[in-house]
Amino acid sequence: MQPPGSAFFVIIIGIESSCDETAAAVLRGPEVLSNVIHTQIALHAEYGGVVPEIASRDHLKQIQPVISKALAEAHITIDDVDAIAVTNRPGLSGALLIGVQTAKTLAYLSEKPLIAVDHLVGHLLACFVNFTGDLSGEKNLWAPHVEQCFPYIGLLASGGHTALYRVDGPLPEQIAELGGTRDDAAGEAYDKVAKLLGLGYPGGPTIDRLAAEGNPEAIELSRPMAARSSLEFSFSGLKTNVSAWVRKHGAPKNDQTLRDLCAAFQGRVVDSLVTKALRAAHQEKVRTVVLAGGVAANRELRERGAQEAQRQQVRWVVPEKRACTDNAAMIAYAGYHLAKAEQFAPLSVEISPRTCLPRVTHKGPGLRKHNR
Ligand code: KG4
Ligand code: ZN
Repeated sequence: MQPPGSAFFVIIIGIESSCDETAAAVLRGPEVLSNVIHTQIALHAEYGGVVPEIASRDHLKQIQPVISKALAEAHITIDDVDAIAVTNRPGLSGALLIGVQTAKTLAYLSEKPLIAVDHLVGHLLACFVNFTGDLSGEKNLWAPHVEQCFPYIGLLASGGHTALYRVDGPLPEQIAELGGTRDDAAGEAYDKVAKLLGLGYPGGPTIDRLAAEGNPEAIELSRPMAARSSLEFSFSGLKTNVSAWVRKHGAPKNDQTLRDLCAAFQGRVVDSLVTKALRAAHQEKVRTVVLAGGVAANRELRERGAQEAQRQQVRWVVPEKRACTDNAAMIAYAGYHLAKAEQFAPLSVEISPRTCLPRVTHKGPGLRKHNR
């Protein structure tokens, strides 16, 4: 590995298996050399959500071919790799175990250092991964811009998590949660509402598409925790609201009413995410909001958030869609920063269903007082 202070172009393989994607990616510094994702969406579709046992079995089947493909597409072997980064938390325990055991075995046999990555840190840094090989940094944000972005508010909205973070740097100890969901994650609410409306899994992309042709004001739905000044979210009431509407009026067919209902639901979700993210920026006296997680692929969240942020003179950073959903490039990238800080993991490192990121308990800007 290069000495600290020199241009740090270490080669890292990232491995991700925390939920329903088996993924491996090879990065040289922030630059993606390969990015392989095997998605299990079709396996879980008939259940309307991820079935943990099915997920583990498929990870076991796919992990070796996915890693081999990532190495082959990067035109390297494991001997050329400087370190092995793997998601060890949070996620489904059985699913995490497959990736972590594989990474430990690879690290042991190849005598390379192991790096344990929190999946949420990967998401929060994903917008800086250089997927395109465009080293000018004009098409997307990549390493030289990272330092200019800190501190920022990370709005992470996925199928498993929805929370706001203050991000002061790329290391876990520089990140803390400011507020999260009290019940369902935003993506989970999308998936449950889609199931209710018979729209298939995952629900986000379908509802997003239908909402574009609907009128959000045509159907009255509740506004999740709108009156509160907190940075917490709640989406289960809105989901129940949609369910009550369907009970009363019957499930809409593939018509304008369906589009209006999707638009009303999406409008409320996006309002809540945008309002709280900008509120966090003001409370923390931070000028940048960075989107992350699968729901960050949402058209309305990206566009309406950008307009509102501009009005409030906040920078609204929207990552490429492939950076939003689960991938291993973001894990390798988070691992790259841990490697720079020489934060390697022992072969005895364990998995955890919980994140390592603490929750801030005080009011006002900064990360000085928090539970870790
Ligand atoms: O980050 P991700 O790929 O996996 C998790 O870690 O959960 O996020 C998946 C979630 C799903 O709930 C899916 O419905 C949602 O992201 N999603 C969307 C969109 N694309 C994916 N939600 C709203 N609008 C979208 N365009
Ligand atoms: Zn994720």
